[in-house]
Amino acid sequence: MSVTSAHRIFISFTLLLGMTCQTYAGDPDRGASVYYEHGCYSCHGYNGTGKTPLANNVSGIMASEDTFLLFLRQRADRNPVLPDKSMPNYAVQALSDEQAVNVYAYIKTLTDDPPKTEEIPTFVKILEAAKTQGPDHSKPD
Ligand code: HEC
Repeated sequence: MSVTSAHRIFISFTLLLGMTCQTYAGDPDRGASVYYEHGCYSCHGYNGTGKTPLANNVSGIMASEDTFLLFLRQRADRNPVLPDKSMPNYAVQALSDEQAVNVYAYIKTLTDDPPKTEEIPTFVKILEAAKTQGPDHSKPD
């Protein structure tokens, strides 16, 4: 049986669909290397808790791989490679789509969950000591 043109159209359509609906499955372990090798940590902190926090899914930009990729690529057209204040430019030549989705997957694993003050015994001791020692400020001089 020969391949009919209907078959060909169907096959091309399926391939096209496959290309446009490509979903990436980022690998968080490889993403961790990207995060550290590309200096993301220097502004976003070792755990995503830096000056512009990324942990705990706080960023709407991280809502999907697509929004994240769009953010990276769009700004690449506008931002200088070495900006002084804002995020550097990450064009596809600097960070491939594969690296970007891997770092996306890694950022998704970052959590910021510090213990409450009253759960840190040493800190509680310091607070208690501060209450009972030192000058008594409760009375006027
Ligand atoms: C020189 C500092 C710097 C570096 C390096 C840097 N960023 Fe950023 N990033 C920022 C700043 C500042 C913002 C917020 C303002 C802006 O969009 O420029 C930001 C914003 C973001 C946001 C959006 C957060 C939000 O909701 O506002 C994501 C996601 C992000 N960066 C990921 C990354 C990744 C991934 C890397 C490494 C490949 C990286 N950044 C490297 C400074 C940096």
